Amino acid sequence: MVSRGTDRRGAWPLVVIAPLFVALVGIAVAVAIGALGVAQLADEAIDHASVRAAWTSALLGERLSVLAPALRLEAVQLAARRTGAEILVAGEPGDVVLDATLGAPDTAHLRELIAARDGEVSTLMGRTRFAARALPGDPHAFVVSFVRVPRAPEGAPALIQALFALTTLLVGVATVVAYAVARDAQMDISYVTRRVSDMAVVRSEPSGEPVPVRTIDEVGVLTSALNELVGRFAEAELGYRRDLERARAADRDRAEFLAAVSHELRTPLNAVLGFSDVLLSEVDGPLSPDAREEIEQIRQSGAHLSDLVSDILDFSALEGGRLVLHRAPVDLVAVARELVRESAVLARGKDVAVRLVGDATLVVGVDPKRARQIIGNLLGNAIKFTVKGEVVVALSHDDACAMIDVSDTGPGIHPSERTSIFEEYGQTPAERGKRRGTGLGLTIARRLTAMHGGRIELASEVGRGSRFRVVLPLKPGGP
Ligand SMILES: Nc1ncnc2c1ncn2[C@@H]1O[C@H](COP(=O)(O)OP(=O)(O)OP(=O)(O)O)[C@@H](O)[C@H]1O
Ligand SMILES: [Mg+2]
Repeated sequence: MVSRGTDRRGAWPLVVIAPLFVALVGIAVAVAIGALGVAQLADEAIDHASVRAAWTSALLGERLSVLAPALRLEAVQLAARRTGAEILVAGEPGDVVLDATLGAPDTAHLRELIAARDGEVSTLMGRTRFAARALPGDPHAFVVSFVRVPRAPEGAPALIQALFALTTLLVGVATVVAYAVARDAQMDISYVTRRVSDMAVVRSEPSGEPVPVRTIDEVGVLTSALNELVGRFAEAELGYRRDLERARAADRDRAEFLAAVSHELRTPLNAVLGFSDVLLSEVDGPLSPDAREEIEQIRQSGAHLSDLVSDILDFSALEGGRLVLHRAPVDLVAVARELVRESAVLARGKDVAVRLVGDATLVVGVDPKRARQIIGNLLGNAIKFTVKGEVVVALSHDDACAMIDVSDTGPGIHPSERTSIFEEYGQTPAERGKRRGTGLGLTIARRLTAMHGGRIELASEVGRGSRFRVVLPLKPGGP
């Protein structure tokens, strides 16, 4: 996985954002309600001032009509004081007759107001609603009242205060609730996320207990879905493990079968080889040339079969992990020299020279039998696949490793086959048809080299030859 974990996109901090969002929406709603309320109160204040102006003008007109002219000014001033309005009495042309205002409008303006009867005007008091009403019995005289429209409508501060208190309370409650819900959701999500991450770890045990479903909301639904997924995953993995175990058991059976059959083959084969040797030594009497040739053929075929059986046995021991190394100081030059000498038989009848070059001695801590097997397999291949030219075994070393090069002037190996020939039963297509070997030699050599902590390198040129290099660490566990 990503690193799987680092690929995670930045998550929104739900616990902070959810309550903040709730609080902001709450405040916005409260401000809107407040603004609407204040606007309504302002309208009401205007209506109220209009009504008061109309009533004042009408009632005062009634009163003045029954009062003696000398008493009228006093009545107007008294009314102005009591109502808090500005009042004047004017004739139709706009001439002020009685004045209880802070500053009466000029004649022309007053005439307009009288003509309009009701409306709004600015006076020294500020914004006012006015009403002009004719005096009963004198249609040419008018009482004009100006009632101030309050700047802050009555009740607005109380409304705002109440709203503020309510908003604070609601937003507070909403924030706490939202915080609790968001935190709970986030805890659930974190828990589920942690479980999923745990499951993503290789070799984890997804079949463990399911994630408890703590809520019936979306997180709960998600958790249930996840549990279902986990169940299926666990089931699939169990199936996979069962199949794997079955395959391993089958593999073990196969290896055991191979080992058993190879053992059974060994006994009669040894008898064939032994009796061939006896016959060839002519202990039982001289052999005719034809008989000698035929017995040699029997011996060669038997030896080949014996090699095959040994390879199969070794391979099955390697597969089953039963092959154990017995290390000892071994002079690899001596081993190579002996193999080169023995290989004369293999090169017989071919125009191939086999030589040994390099160090005089090269002592390394290896299993002598297996070291012989590694070099022998490579040397055997080199001679087998080379028709003409030479095969050279060269030994050398540096500070850390011993190197055994087996070079030939054979057909070479195509780049596309340089990996597959090291795999079990891997042979080049040309070789496969000839049925000369099993294709196990290189596999065994490579595995044995690896068991020694070394490796085999291959350099080859098609048509010119190949060089297999065995690199073995001088100290066990070294490079
Ligand atoms: N020196 C070489 N030159 C050319 N081809 C080679 C050489 N060594 C190995 N090969 C190719 O690699 C194949 C695998 O070699 P390997 O030794 O594993 O099997 P084998 O020799 O065919 O059979 P076995 O070794 O089991 O008797 C060979 O069949 C051959 O095609
Ligand atoms: Mg071989």
